[in-house]
Amino acid sequence: MNKKPRSGHATFYITTPIYYVNDTPHIGHAYTTVAADVLARYHRALGEDVFFLTGVDEHGQKVAEAAAKTGISPKEHVDKMVVSFQDLLMKLNISNNDFVRTTESRHQETVKNVLMALWKKGEIYEGVYEGWYCIPDERFFPEKDLIDGKCPDCHREVSPLSEKNYFFKMGKYQNELRKYVPIPGFIEPSSRRNEILGFLEKPLGDLCISRPKSRLSWGIPIPFDPDYVTYVWFDALVNYISMRGYDGTPSSLKGKWPADIHLVGKDILTTHAVYWSTMLMALGLPLPKKIFAHGWWTVDEAKMSKSRGNVVDPTAIIKTVGVDAFRYFLLREVPFGDDGNFSQDTLLQRYNSDLANDLGNLVSRVIHLTQQNSNGIIPEPAVLESHPEEESVKEIARNLFDSDALLCLDFHRALTEIWKLIDRVNRYVEEIAPWKLKKPSEKDKLNTFLYTSAEAIRVMGVVISPFMPQTAENIAQQLGLSEIGSYAWGDSLIGKTVQKGDPLFPRIERKKPIVAVAPLSVPTSQTSISIEDFGKLDLRVGIIKEAERIPKSDKLLKLRIGVGLEMRQVVAGIATKYQPEALIGKSIVLVYNLAPAKIRGVLSEGMLLAAGDESVLGLATFLEGIPSGTKIK
Ligand code: ME8
Ligand code: MG
Repeated sequence: MNKKPRSGHATFYITTPIYYVNDTPHIGHAYTTVAADVLARYHRALGEDVFFLTGVDEHGQKVAEAAAKTGISPKEHVDKMVVSFQDLLMKLNISNNDFVRTTESRHQETVKNVLMALWKKGEIYEGVYEGWYCIPDERFFPEKDLIDGKCPDCHREVSPLSEKNYFFKMGKYQNELRKYVPIPGFIEPSSRRNEILGFLEKPLGDLCISRPKSRLSWGIPIPFDPDYVTYVWFDALVNYISMRGYDGTPSSLKGKWPADIHLVGKDILTTHAVYWSTMLMALGLPLPKKIFAHGWWTVDEAKMSKSRGNVVDPTAIIKTVGVDAFRYFLLREVPFGDDGNFSQDTLLQRYNSDLANDLGNLVSRVIHLTQQNSNGIIPEPAVLESHPEEESVKEIARNLFDSDALLCLDFHRALTEIWKLIDRVNRYVEEIAPWKLKKPSEKDKLNTFLYTSAEAIRVMGVVISPFMPQTAENIAQQLGLSEIGSYAWGDSLIGKTVQKGDPLFPRIERKKPIVAVAPLSVPTSQTSISIEDFGKLDLRVGIIKEAERIPKSDKLLKLRIGVGLEMRQVVAGIATKYQPEALIGKSIVLVYNLAPAKIRGVLSEGMLLAAGDESVLGLATFLEGIPSGTKIK
């Protein structure tokens, strides 16, 4: 690419949140990380020096609790848990320059320095904390912030709290921050900026930044009081400067700070825009140039949660569609900033239409045509005449070079623009119909076509490379290049020998369930039930007598099930797995005392047990022939 690098010499510095190491990594984590990776790769390609930081947040109550439950030390616990995050980075092909773990001494030292400096400056004082604590969120809330007595953020239960603690004088920066927040580009999207301005309308209190070791010892010790550790957010936010070598002096950050972009989810915008900004003000450091809060992913329109068991495992998706298709999907499906919904269907649709069809087929077609018509050698285009078709292809390619979509973090628009070129070239192939150009007098036209289409797919490789680095490499290889090259429409392809590769995106048929969900982790007390509760279930052996599809539904079957002498009608979501005919005569497990319900207007009296979460993997059945109606205990 030959766009001008940004002015100045400072490094382009981009971050993701540091994720709680205690969670299983899911598409939400993948999302922020992939978005940051695309930007990092894009800025590198513009010739900039880039520092891309991601990592994990390893302190806090949940980690301590989880470790205690399994009987190992918190450090052993985080050492185990961090592996799945590092593994995910590898599988997602993430090009981060560093990986932060908050248990590392290089981070801990900086946190202690920061605390000491603020303590000496009088920015931190001792007081009594009275309020409420949300354990899952690791956040304190004053009474007034609770909503219906629950956590204002996640709406879960909070616990009362009153104890000596240390406070950061956050409130005194309220006015300064109110003046800063409206600066264009600081908080994006602008709707989020307004949220923060709204938040700053109310009086801003001070921030409790400690907790007694007696209650929780898994944190960074407070250097001026050995009985306390640092509140996990105060610890975590500092990672953005600790990893740049901050030693308490502004000069230690020369050329490395402020960050250009903190990418975060909308859930943690306040902690970044308010806590972090005021911490930086107190330290006398500049604020990040931009905090971008993206939207939230749901799965089949529901919130992802371990207790629901619908946490989508990125590695399972990667296994099925490949890393590049997953990266593409995440950023193509939803405008950055909006909320998004994940479903297997939309993933497969995008895969088969945008990638297998539009891009993959085009590349194999062009390579194939070059092999058939030019011995695999990309010919020189004729210069005699300018065809309108070629001009329009080149024009779209040039527009891509001028696009500012990625500078605006508008991934969705960037990809839409790229697909304009792909669509245009697909049409170009049909317009020219090179397979008809057999006469010697048509040789010029044919050569011009072969050259133009090859150069166009090279440019596609260039512009998709931040999104789909492997695909870009693959395209380069097929064009006989060692690397994909620059944006500029040029002549580097003349004389190159193409090499047919495997299809970039082989079509995926819909039959098999493609996305496994992350296994439920250790059940918590919330998900376990008592033996009495279990006893309420009446499970019976049933035999399927009739089965038919429910019209206009590809998931539902209507079954007639014999249970002893009785017949039950049950609507079951198993049509993606079983043909109705194949079910007749099969023994199944029926939840016999489930309250009847209407599904799509059809009465359903009971439920079948089956394996699988998101999609049915198989019905529960028996090794022996058991009479229908038999109770299951
Ligand atoms: O909050 N949709 O860590 P965390 C989109 N340790 N993005 C999602 C998502 C979803 N459903 N779920 C998670 C923490 N994310 C703190 C951060 S930073 C100094 C400390 C992404 O593991 C999104 O980026 O809860 C969100 O902000 C982040 O994961 C929260 O990660
Ligand atoms: Mg969270």
